[in-house]
Amino acid sequence: MHKYEYRGVIFDLDGVLTDTAHYHYLAWKRLAESVGAIFDEAFNEQLKGVDRMGSLNLILAASGKDFSEADKLTLADEKNLHYQSLIAQLSPADLLPGAAPSLQLIRAAGLKTALASVSKNAQAVIERLGIADQFDVVVDAAKIKNSKPDPEIFLTAAAGLGLTADVCFGVEDSIAGIRAIKSANMFALGIGSPAVLTEADVVIAGLHQFSLQDYLK
Ligand code: G6P
Ligand code: MG
Repeated sequence: MHKYEYRGVIFDLDGVLTDTAHYHYLAWKRLAESVGAIFDEAFNEQLKGVDRMGSLNLILAASGKDFSEADKLTLADEKNLHYQSLIAQLSPADLLPGAAPSLQLIRAAGLKTALASVSKNAQAVIERLGIADQFDVVVDAAKIKNSKPDPEIFLTAAAGLGLTADVCFGVEDSIAGIRAIKSANMFALGIGSPAVLTEADVVIAGLHQFSLQDYLK
């Protein structure tokens, strides 16, 4: 058996294992336009990994208008219903290239796997993708108090795996998520662009470029 530097891998979901980040983007864009906030890809990068109300508050602040708490809840529900309609047909075919092979490779090598997503839809998404049984631990919004960039979700996942942070690494496509991993004192593998994920230890374009060999001792 090979010796790896790590014993656990903690995955973000949206934008890492499947392209639901794009569906969140579409749903937030429609909402932003309905309240008169300017919304583009750069602004969207600030929302990735941030929980629903946190994201909504950032958009509403950009609109420059005031909203009551009741209005905010209605808008958050609207966005979520739109998002849920976009992910209704999700299937294993929607796994990003390299996602399923990476999970299988990691688990076959004897490392543990966890999911760390602040999405309240995370469980439904992994079930539709057919990968719910590929995680030893799933930590979602229901199990944490603080959204990324707080390290809580990654620390909770590591603890659930029975591992210390130094033997885990996190995989993330968001600025907030990379920050959360680094605050948890873990190695951060970024998925996306090095120009965006400047705080990641290593950035690859997607899990199709993931190689477990890079993590041998
Ligand atoms: C993930 C996504 C965010 C999304 C958040 C909450 O972190 O990266 O874009 O806003 O989950 O998702 P939810 O499904 O609970 O609205
Ligand atoms: Mg993500």
